[in-house]
Amino acid sequence: MTSLDRYAVFGQPIKHSKSPRIHQLFAQQTGQDLLYSAQEVPAEQFVMTTEAFFAQGGKGLNCTLPLKELAWAWATHKTERAELAKAVNTLAVQVDGSVLGDNTDGCGLVQDLLVNHGIALAGKRILLLGAGGASRGILLPLLEQSPVCLVIANRTVHKAIELAAEFSHKGAISGCGFADLIDSAPFDIILNATSASLSGQLPALPEGLLVEQGVCYDLAYSNEPTAFVHWGRARHAIKSLDGLGMLVEQAAEAFFIWRGVRPETQSVIALLNSERGL
Ligand code: ATR
Repeated sequence: MTSLDRYAVFGQPIKHSKSPRIHQLFAQQTGQDLLYSAQEVPAEQFVMTTEAFFAQGGKGLNCTLPLKELAWAWATHKTERAELAKAVNTLAVQVDGSVLGDNTDGCGLVQDLLVNHGIALAGKRILLLGAGGASRGILLPLLEQSPVCLVIANRTVHKAIELAAEFSHKGAISGCGFADLIDSAPFDIILNATSASLSGQLPALPEGLLVEQGVCYDLAYSNEPTAFVHWGRARHAIKSLDGLGMLVEQAAEAFFIWRGVRPETQSVIALLNSERGL
């Protein structure tokens, strides 16, 4: 077995994961010697495979779909942001040998908006589409930026209301259905966290939802602009972005948790964008 520190991403499917590439670029750039592999792990084998990985000296894992909730249930020690997200995307061996569960998705999103795109969230009106796992994962880091309001809109209305209620002690947050948005004042930033965008579908949204010079951000990414990126462009968003930057930033935060070194991300984002022709 190699003497290099070993890391991996577990998920299913995992073939198209960009994480091994991103972490390899981070390792080269920071001069860290490590191995990072991708492993197809079905949900029913998650616990067994994870325990074997750490028993054999693995230092850290990323967990992606459909394993984040299982990783949350498995991890005994968790950060507050992971606890509230009810999802863990990063597992890290601590000095005492225990494994800490964290969730770097939300801070990856905030970092991409704030630092890479210069979009401040403080004092802004934010609309979040979707009330599933992807939304839950980013709520605490979003609220920590002190937006003036964060509205969750969802097809199944009660899920939006219940999710907002769970986070109401953390900031100005409410839940509603898409139809309720008709009477709403326009939003500065609209985030799409529905799983519909990649299959080309979008919720039926009223017109006039985005302020002039507003920002649209799809948490999903693909080689072609997503349906929501098109939606934002058609409404003259000053920026209509997909989640590639968030992907790289959540990886950078995981790398920092594992290695104590913060990689530079902009060149990695630029490289991945150039490879998809942007
Ligand atoms: P994820 O982990 O990606 O968030 P999820 O927990 O299954 O996946 O949640 C999917 C989200 O996308 C939900 O908010 C879902 O709305 P419902 O709660 O009403 O199911 C939303 N979604 C999926 N397909 C959609 C569609 N065609 N139109 C609108 N919302 C959709």
